Amino acid sequence: MSQNLAIIPSVQHKIISLFENHSADHDFQHIDRVRKLALHIAEIEGGNKTVVELAALLHDVSDHKFNGGILNDNARAARELLEELNAEENLILAVCEIVDKVSFKGSGVTDQEGSLELKIVRDADRLDAIGAIGIARAFSFGGARNRPFFDAEISASEHTDFQAYHSDKSHTINHFYEKLLLLKDRMLTNEARRIAEKRQQFMLDFLDQFYNEWYVSIK
Ligand code: ADP
Ligand code: NI
Repeated sequence: MSQNLAIIPSVQHKIISLFENHSADHDFQHIDRVRKLALHIAEIEGGNKTVVELAALLHDVSDHKFNGGILNDNARAARELLEELNAEENLILAVCEIVDKVSFKGSGVTDQEGSLELKIVRDADRLDAIGAIGIARAFSFGGARNRPFFDAEISASEHTDFQAYHSDKSHTINHFYEKLLLLKDRMLTNEARRIAEKRQQFMLDFLDQFYNEWYVSIK
């Protein structure tokens, strides 16, 4: 396992350079927050921390939003990198299972089941999509694509497959109803559920205030 631990700095180095030109909704700071959140959850819930840390670092290694639109390419890219670093096969298998299954694929798509480490990394990734940081990331995402904040005429959709979720070009407020507000109830670990409560309330308060200001209803 010590040989496996030594891989972490090399993976981090590679991920920093891969994410260099990404916008703030999906930069290395996101990866680093997910790593910290995942290690915190693992401290409480258990799980193999080397697997958790490597999977957190690699969870967006070949994200469809930045690889030209190829869906489900994470496991291939993670294996390539880990093989280059001579990681043990059982570690590669554990990490690749996680990065393959981790993503949110639409409100109408059931999450794939897997190991405790998958649950931890998925919860960590989802915690970073909600609360104050989640709001900042959503508007960064919409801003980078020139999307309006809100349009009352266009309501939220339920996405029943990854392609439909991925190709949706709606306004940013819809994203709260299509993903962000749904994540709290899809958390799988008790610690993530606990952290999600406060972040959920913050988003609900934000939306209340947003609508007040949008409709210029001065109170
Ligand atoms: P991750 O890559 O971390 O699994 P996503 O790929 O779903 O998460 O999205 C990356 C970030 O961009 C998240 O903060 C997410 O909420 C945000 N995002 C994704 N799609 C949209 C959208 N249509 N509008 C606004 N924000 C979005
Ligand atoms: Ni992510």
